[in-house]
Amino acid sequence: MKISTENYITLSSESHKEIIHFFSENNDSLVFDNITPEKLHSFKQLTEEIKAIKQNVNQKGFMVLKPLQELSLHENRFLSWIVISLLGEPLVQNKEGAKIIHVYDRDRTKKMEDGARYHQTRQGGSIHTDNVNVPVKWEYLVMHCVATAMVGGETILLNGNDIYNYLKESLPDVLSTLEAPFYWEYRGISDGTYQAPIVTYSEEGVAQFRYLRDYLESAHQKSGNPLTAKQLSALDALDSILEISDLQSRFFLEQGETLIINDSQVFHGRTTFSDFENAEVVDLDFTAGKRYKRTIDRAWVKEING
Ligand SMILES: [Fe+2]
Repeated sequence: MKISTENYITLSSESHKEIIHFFSENNDSLVFDNITPEKLHSFKQLTEEIKAIKQNVNQKGFMVLKPLQELSLHENRFLSWIVISLLGEPLVQNKEGAKIIHVYDRDRTKKMEDGARYHQTRQGGSIHTDNVNVPVKWEYLVMHCVATAMVGGETILLNGNDIYNYLKESLPDVLSTLEAPFYWEYRGISDGTYQAPIVTYSEEGVAQFRYLRDYLESAHQKSGNPLTAKQLSALDALDSILEISDLQSRFFLEQGETLIINDSQVFHGRTTFSDFENAEVVDLDFTAGKRYKRTIDRAWVKEING
């Protein structure tokens, strides 16, 4: 899967007008909790275009929404939250009840090996899907680029169908191991574990993936069910396939762009990055010209009628 111009989309001038009008009336209340169903009703054209974007995401696996040049960085960020709200139901991602998580490096001395969470480090690797913390399936992973790093932080995507075909043709034994249940934890949400396979199939027979190795290993340990030699070997094989450059699409998500991914059908990851030494944490009033930490706003969205 390689990214092409067909994966990029710009909203129409009619949607632009709706959005500019909205900001002229609501500029003092640009926080996520202020996006009410009543306010969403005013986006008639945008609602139609989001439906088309969803169809594209379902067919192509992912789409990148370009920012509106007329809007400030903060307004484009808020626009991504409107897009998230129009896509479906944004889900709670942590114990504090947040529906938007800010992904950035909290402290460059902290590493995942020492227990830090992936989304709070600058480390790359660990190619995965996000739908691992809860057994219920949700459809869309949305990542809005608020600020880029000084260097690095390339986005890596792989088409699940390519991975499935590779497994089916070359490693059928590995595939059947991945089709059996593994343990998972409700990390960041609650205690306890649940079981689910890494590979399942939709009603149409399309392969769907659930995979984040660190969390899976931790769940097996926590529940007292160490991974078998066969399972370990299958996970090593899957990780190796996910590193094959021909199967990867790599690109930089630019400031203001919003990436929408069909989470169970597209794996994602990033390369290592480094922020400027004096980079600041992004706040709600962030402006152009300052040096900020690489920041991605992340949402998990469930299809309302899906
Ligand atoms: Fe992720």
